[in-house]
Amino acid sequence: MTLRLVVADPHAAGELAADEIEAYVTQEEFSGRDAVLGFATGSTPLPVYAALARRELSLSYVRGFALDEYVGLPQGHPQSYASVILCEAVEPLGLDPARVLVPNGAAHDPAAAGAEFERAIEDAGGIDVQLLGIGSNGHLAFNEPGSSFDSLTRVVELTAETRLDNSRYFDSLDDVPTHAITQGLGTIMRARSLVLLAFGERKAAALAAALEGPVSEDMPASIVQRHPRVLVLADEAAASLLRRETVERGRRSSLRPS
Ligand code: PGA
Repeated sequence: MTLRLVVADPHAAGELAADEIEAYVTQEEFSGRDAVLGFATGSTPLPVYAALARRELSLSYVRGFALDEYVGLPQGHPQSYASVILCEAVEPLGLDPARVLVPNGAAHDPAAAGAEFERAIEDAGGIDVQLLGIGSNGHLAFNEPGSSFDSLTRVVELTAETRLDNSRYFDSLDDVPTHAITQGLGTIMRARSLVLLAFGERKAAALAAALEGPVSEDMPASIVQRHPRVLVLADEAAASLLRRETVERGRRSSLRPS
């Protein structure tokens, strides 16, 4: 594994993540093929999208895949991840909406929609750079504790903690869907480069367990310790429970060329 860790405020972290994405997707190798970005939702990745939008890059060769989507929200619901990604990333970055896929959580058969999404990622040649947040319970995407490290895109039940965390976007807790379609941990690990972002004290315990604890399905985000190329960007509050050696080693580390 090469894990680079930078402690920076969300604005600076957004710029660093945008640097990583820009450097990655503007490489020579993408002159002949599409670059594939993995989009995350939630509040965490917003500074990244804002930083990328400010650069006014020409990203016509970029395709995208979302990490996850709620099951059961009607198409066009403002809290569906399809709507959020359209509004926060696709439109500000000038991406072609037809080239950014989100699992179809309104499908008649969500399990089949999950399998179809997994195939679409494979058909695109896999994800080059995957943005990730971390849940306060250590989830990655909607892979809750106990998710198999080999899991692929599938339907999952959300934990009470995740529904409570996400209820801030809905009128009431009852309105938060109970299920989602999510990329699996196995899917996420196939991305060539991971950018994991964590801001705020609420993420501190999960981030420390993910980077310093045992690699365990009880702490889904700990799987990043097995990935060959990870950039972790955390603010002071989220990094506050990390050991000093972890921060120092992470800061000195440079990502191997992709
Ligand atoms: P947040 O969620 O960005 O809204 O904090 C991240 C996550 O739960 O993965």
